[in-house]
Amino acid sequence: MSPSDRRISVIETAGFADYALLDSGDGRKLERFGRFTVDRPEPQAMWRPVLEPGTWLRADAVFKGEKGEEDGDGGRWRPSKPMPDTWPVHVLDVTMLCRLTSFRHLGIFPEQMPHWQWMLERVKRVGDRPARVLNLFAYTGAASLVAARVGAEVTHVDASKKAIGWAKQNQAVSKLGDTSIRWILDDARKFVAREVRRGRTYDVILIDPPKFGRGPAGEVWDVFLHLGPLLRDCAALLAPERAALVLTTYAIRASALATDGLVRDCLKEQKGTVESGELAVVEEAGGRLLPTSMFTRWVRDEAVS
Ligand SMILES: C[S@@+](CC[C@H](N)C(=O)[O-])C[C@H]1O[C@@H](n2cnc3c(N)ncnc32)[C@H](O)[C@@H]1O
Repeated sequence: MSPSDRRISVIETAGFADYALLDSGDGRKLERFGRFTVDRPEPQAMWRPVLEPGTWLRADAVFKGEKGEEDGDGGRWRPSKPMPDTWPVHVLDVTMLCRLTSFRHLGIFPEQMPHWQWMLERVKRVGDRPARVLNLFAYTGAASLVAARVGAEVTHVDASKKAIGWAKQNQAVSKLGDTSIRWILDDARKFVAREVRRGRTYDVILIDPPKFGRGPAGEVWDVFLHLGPLLRDCAALLAPERAALVLTTYAIRASALATDGLVRDCLKEQKGTVESGELAVVEEAGGRLLPTSMFTRWVRDEAVS
């Protein structure tokens, strides 16, 4: 491979009707999720905020975390007024319920929207039958619902019963009752290994692993140890004609060049095109790009007829 074959790109989103990154700076970000604004830590916002302090003070909830901690533990939300347990956010024709979690997340990662749109393009290309989508570390299921909405057969895998329960609530509020989502409460690696033995294939595989995690039976997930073996197994699950895989990583001490090299290595037996880079959100107040995560996408090269 020549150096020019490697591309590191930035995929940015300016949000959508129900989501905006209003401002950022001084290690925090101010966002609007549906009808509520929240102020939470963001260590990468090292610049200064643009909006008046008064705008920040009017946030509906503020997450006060311990200084310097990266993973969201050790802090808590302080709402400035009574807030509902959940409230809706609409994106790409599905509804996600937001909730103030102790991990400072709200149950949706808006920076992933370009991945969901990209996945929809892949799903549509399958054409002659419903596309099969495998969503690993699927959490509250945004990608699963977006794919199911357009008729894909989705396999949603997560180790947390609570996360699957939340994803099912999202399915219900999205009125996706009779769409096809197979809910799998399992360790991602175990499940994928089983699918390889069964000879199953998927048209699109989404992988969004945490740095550390646990399967339902206590199986340890460590991204640095286990992502390679998982990707090698996923390579065997890619449909032979058209297939695509997208990996997102965040909160790890690694570069997109690392996941780029890993995906190229694990999928080297198959002819495909790889693109890697960063996902970022465009901030409304100053137009700055707030980085959120790294990605690598792989698409099978199609035979020219
Ligand atoms: C933060 S989420 C990923 C975000 C999600 N894909 C989205 O965009 O909304 C990480 C998920 O990985 C799950 N997880 C952690 N360890 C796991 C394992 N060993 N097998 C399967 N899922 C696991 C967690 O339960 C959690 O839901």
